[in-house]
Parts: sequence; structure tokens; C-alpha cells
Amino acid sequence: MTMTMRSTSLFFLLSLLSLSSASHHRYHDHDHSTSNTNATPTPTSSIQQLCNAATRFPDLCVSSLSNSKQLPPNPTPLQLIYSSLSVTSETARTVQSKVNAILNSAAGDQNRTRAANNCLEVLKSSLYRISITANDALPRGNLKSARTWMSASLLHHTDCGSALKNINDTKLATETLTLVNSLINITSNALSLLFSYDHFGNNTASWIPPRTERDGFWGAVKTSGSGSGSGIAGFKGGVPANLKVDVTVSKDGSSGSYKTVQDAVNAAPNNTADGKRFVIRIKAGVYEEIVRVPLEKKNVVFLGDGIGKTVITGSLNVGQPGISTSSSATVAVLGDGFMASGLTFQNTAGADKDNQSHQAVAFKSSSDLSVIENCEFLGNQDTLFAQTLRQFYKSCRIVGNVDFVFGNAAAFFQDCQILVKPRQAGPEQEGKSYMTAHGRTDPAQATGYVFYNCLINGTEEFMKMYHGASNPEMHSNFLGRPWKEYSRTVYIQSNLQELVSTQGWLPWSDDLGLKTLYFGEFRNSGPGFTPSRRVNWSNQIPAEHVQTYSVENFIQGDQWIPSS
Ligand SMILES: *[C@@H]1O[C@H](CO)[C@@H](O)[C@H](O)[C@H]1NC(C)=O
Ligand SMILES: *[C@@H]1O[C@H](CO)[C@@H](O)[C@H](O)[C@H]1NC(C)=O
Ligand SMILES: *[C@@H]1O[C@H](CO)[C@@H](O)[C@H](O)[C@H]1NC(C)=O
Ligand SMILES: *[C@@H]1O[C@H](CO)[C@@H](O)[C@H](O)[C@H]1NC(C)=O
Ligand SMILES: *[C@@H]1O[C@H](CO)[C@@H](O)[C@H](O)[C@H]1NC(C)=O
Ligand SMILES: *[C@@H]1O[C@H](CO)[C@@H](O)[C@H](O)[C@H]1NC(C)=O
Ligand SMILES: *[C@@H]1O[C@H](CO)[C@@H](O)[C@H](O)[C@H]1NC(C)=O
Ligand SMILES: *[C@@H]1O[C@H](CO)[C@@H](O)[C@H](O)[C@H]1NC(C)=O
Repeated sequence: MTMTMRSTSLFFLLSLLSLSSASHHRYHDHDHSTSNTNATPTPTSSIQQLCNAATRFPDLCVSSLSNSKQLPPNPTPLQLIYSSLSVTSETARTVQSKVNAILNSAAGDQNRTRAANNCLEVLKSSLYRISITANDALPRGNLKSARTWMSASLLHHTDCGSALKNINDTKLATETLTLVNSLINITSNALSLLFSYDHFGNNTASWIPPRTERDGFWGAVKTSGSGSGSGIAGFKGGVPANLKVDVTVSKDGSSGSYKTVQDAVNAAPNNTADGKRFVIRIKAGVYEEIVRVPLEKKNVVFLGDGIGKTVITGSLNVGQPGISTSSSATVAVLGDGFMASGLTFQNTAGADKDNQSHQAVAFKSSSDLSVIENCEFLGNQDTLFAQTLRQFYKSCRIVGNVDFVFGNAAAFFQDCQILVKPRQAGPEQEGKSYMTAHGRTDPAQATGYVFYNCLINGTEEFMKMYHGASNPEMHSNFLGRPWKEYSRTVYIQSNLQELVSTQGWLPWSDDLGLKTLYFGEFRNSGPGFTPSRRVNWSNQIPAEHVQTYSVENFIQGDQWIPSS
């Protein structure tokens, strides 16, 4: 293979991946291979070697990459990764056209329409993430962003599968679901190749299938000053002071201001360039509305007049027809670079079964490089949906009772208060609470929740009920439970009050994830810190590895969180 041919194939891969949302139907022709008179090429040894060494589904890896016509005979690791991204995006586009066909034949069936639309929305996000992985992260050698974005792509494919599971009663729908399941594994393989490339680079002899702390695997980390063993330091930075306001929202719409938050969001330009922001000042008041910040609205900032003064509130919940956990959110953000400061996000729906409400999200974020400071999140079940990508929360208050911080983001919570509120009406009615339910599905996903220097307590009303119960165990509270197989949650140098149960953590159902999750603690304090009585599938983090969970290492915050 000559140099010229090699760079030509690389160029072809890149152009194949360039994102143009108008070109949905262009690239899914790989199943028309009858026009190709050559037999399927035999996999070369380097494809076989790297697929076998590094992926969870090696056969699928070999077969999907060997069909890729662009790869040179003995591809380099990077060429193989570009090719795996190309195969992932082609397959996602094929799914997209099939789901469009489902939508077009839905004939007014609301369940079918909703499932198809949900799937199309997440595929759009996924294709965007794959495209910026290939065209931005990899060319710049930014492997942390590459892993973050492909972790999001995998999450979106999993979500598309969950949506379609509900409508699998036609041939087209079952076919599509089968293809989505294959897409999920293809994406997992691409992410696994990135995992090994990130950790071992071109030294392919060291490549391994993705491992986690639970397998004793800890990646290399940057130690920032403090030195290993001395814990981690708080991150100085957050929402910048003195931001220039672009538009204002007020209840009375006076002097040129908008009356609703959504109107102000709609006024933001598409794709605000990095380094610029669109700042929305939201004056004190209770805004009863549902707010959506779409993928195109980047670097949007909400500035309120303070917690409890500026309040955005809703009451959508899964007990209502057509509402899913995701769509119940009072405020949902897709655009990257979102910031908020000085406001309350609320969902008032109750968690009590008898009140027919259940999951009811106050704030959902899928915004990469997002900073939230001095905000309050009020709800019951599923208050804060930190769904995917990198998010930094500082000095926030999060209130709820069931799984009230949940999702599959890489989120860092610093100096926050996590408060349990009553789930049941009275002290003698039993009700367990879970602060978190992290949902990592794949060991290569660079996701997890870190709580650093946080206070875990109950609200005043909850603590009254807790103490009033004849047996406080009736209101036992857990640091988390594993929503998915590879759930990852750690509490570091945090203050755990008495309401935290001595076992610390609770299973989700049976033994789901108990051998694969990572639940850790490091130098916590307070009456709820009882390390000797914790469940034996949780860990105290070894001091030499605690830097893994610093803002720098966990979410690369030193590269994007404003320092003032
Ligand atoms: C839609 O889904 C709901 C809940 O799963 C079900 O009760 C209803 O029968 C479905 N409607 C149709 C038209 O299939
Ligand atoms: C299709 O739906 C039925 C009924 O909900 C379920 O039993 C079956 O497992 C589903 N098939 C797939 C492939 O998910
Ligand atoms: C895809 O992954 C699932 C779940 O991990 C597994 O059961 C299935 O066999 C895989 N399919 C292929 C084609 O690799
Ligand atoms: C791997 O080698 C290629 C040159 O073949 C180089 O461009 C790339 O930076 C190397 N990757 C890493 C992670 O060192
Ligand atoms: C912003 O992007 C959306 C989605 O692509 C599009 O519908 C809308 O027209 C765009 N707005 C402007 C002003 O370009
Ligand atoms: C549920 O509803 C009942 C009756 O409306 C009410 O008494 C109770 O306080 C509610 N529970 C919660 C937790 O809101
Ligand atoms: C925990 O909450 C209770 C009830 O509101 C309060 O009395 C107590 O001071 C709180 N603990 C800490 C450490 O803030
Ligand atoms: C962990 O505890 C469970 C029940 O408490 C017990 O059955 C199991 O053997 C223990 N596992 C280990 C590895 O100690």
C-alpha cells in the first residue's frame, strides 16, 4: 500500500462521515453487494488481531470491518477506528431510513408515531456525535472527547432500541429492532477500540477488552499538585461572573423582555460559536412552562435572580397518557455548553403510588461541557436526569426520593446538598429512597457520577418523619442502586448524615450488575459513613487511585470550565 492510496482511503472515510442531515439515504448501500463481483474480502490479520484483542463482540467486529471497502490490507489502529466509526454511522443511517418507513406507515397510531419519533430524535444526536468524533476529536488527537461522544452515541442507540421494543408487532418493526441490536454492538465495538487506543495508543500488543475499576483496571491519570494519596481538591471555577445579558425574561414582559423562557430560548441563534454565549436573564418569578433547548442551541446561559426566586416549574409525569420519563422533564437541554445559575428547576408531581404519578423529571441534561452553579432541583422520583456527556454541578441543592439523580452522564457534583424528602404521607408508611441510579450499560463508556464534598441529608420534614417512625428502618435511604450493569457512582470527602443506611447501597433487582458495577467511597465522614457495614459489592477507593475522579481526569474540566 502506497502512501497516496492510504491517505486517499482516509480521506474517503472522512468525507463519508461528514454530517449533512439532508443526506440520510446516501450511504446505506452496503447490503447491495450483489453489484460487487468480488467475493467478500478475507479479513486481514490486523483486523482480526485488534477485534479479538479489544472488543466484546469480536466476530461482529471482524465481519463488519472486513466488508468495509475503504480499508487498506493492513490498517493502522487509527484507520481501523475511523472505519469502525464509518460502519457505525452507515448502520445508524440504515436504521434511520427504516424508522422513517415505520413512521410513514404509522397511520395515526400514536404509540407507533411516538416510538418512531423518539428513535429519530436520538439517532440525530447520535449521528452528530459520531460525525464530530471523526471530524473533530480524532484529527485533533482528543481521545477523551472521542470516548465521551461515542459513549453518548451508544446510549442513544440503546434508547432507540428501548423505544422500538414497544412496537414490535410488524415485520418491518421486528426487522428494525434486530438491526438496532446489531447497531448497539457495532457501536460498543467502536467504543472499545477507542478505549484501548486511549489507554495504550499504537502499542497494540497491550490492547484489551474494556475493563473497569471492578476488574482492578485504573487508567493513567494526571495528578494536579496535591500528590497521590492526599485526596482530591475542589475545582475553582464555574459560571463566570459579569456575563453580558443578551435577552431578558420577566413575568410581565415589560420593556422589551420575553414573557416565557421558551420564547427567549427560541430567540437564540443556532450553533453559537465556541467562546461565545447567548445569555438569558430570567427575572424573579414562577414560570409555569415546559422548556426545551434543542441540539442546535449551543452555549445558552440561564441567569436567575436566585434559588427560590426564579423558578421554572411543571408537573408532567409518567402517570399521564403519552408521557415518558424523558418527556416529563420541566426543562430539557440538548445543546452543548449550557450553563445555569441562580434558579430553581421543579417538577411538582408526587412520587406516591396512590397519587398516580411516578417518574417526573425536573431537569434533564444531555449537554456536553455544561456548568450548573447555585441551582436547585426539586422533585420526587427522577428529579435530575443527568443523561449523557460531561456535566459539572457546583453548590447545587438536589431534592427527591426515588433515583433522584439518574442517567448515564459523566457528571461531577461539587459542594452540593443532596436531600431526601418524604416519599410517603406518614411516619408509619414504609418508603425507601435512593439518591442515585447510574445507568452505564457498557464497560467502555466513560461515564459515572462523582459526588465531591457534598452533604447527604434529609429535608427538615423528612428528618421529622424519620425520627417519628417507630422503626427508622422503614425509611431507609441508599447512596445508589445499579440501574444498569456497569453503573458507576462514587462519593468522595462527603458528609453522610444519619439517614444513610449502614449497608450504603441497594441492588436494583436480584443480582443485576452486582459483579460489574463500581460503587466507591473515599474519606467520607458523618454518622452515615459506616464502611465496615457496607455491602460487599461496594468499595473504599484506594488512595493511589482517587485522582481518577478529579474534575481534571473525570470530565477534563480544566480544559473547559471557566476559571472564574
Ligand atoms: C398504546 O400503548 C398503551 C400503553 O402501553 C396501550 O394501553 C394502548 O392500547 C396502546 N395503543 C395502541 C393503539 O396500540
Ligand atoms: C416483542 O414484544 C413482545 C410483547 O411485548 C415481547 O414478548 C417480545 O420479547 C418482543 N420481542 C423483542 C425482540 O423484543
Ligand atoms: C449483541 O449483544 C448482545 C448483548 O450483549 C448479545 O446477546 C448478542 O449476542 C450480540 N449480538 C451480536 C451479533 O454480537
Ligand atoms: C499512532 O501512530 C500514528 C502514526 O501512524 C500517529 O499519528 C498517532 O498519533 C499515534 N497515536 C497515538 C495515540 O500515539
Ligand atoms: C435552526 O436549526 C433548526 C434545526 O435544524 C432549523 O429548523 C431552524 O430553521 C434553524 N434556524 C435558523 C434561524 O437557521
Ligand atoms: C398523595 O395524595 C393524598 C391524597 O390526595 C395526599 O393526602 C398525600 O399527601 C399525597 N402524598 C404525597 C407524597 O404527596
Ligand atoms: C440535616 O438536616 C437536619 C434537618 O433539617 C438539620 O437539623 C441538620 O442540621 C442537617 N445537618 C447538617 C450537617 O447540615
Ligand atoms: C457478599 O455477601 C453476600 C450476602 O451478604 C454473600 O452471600 C456473599 O458470599 C458475599 N460475597 C463475598 C465475595 O464475600
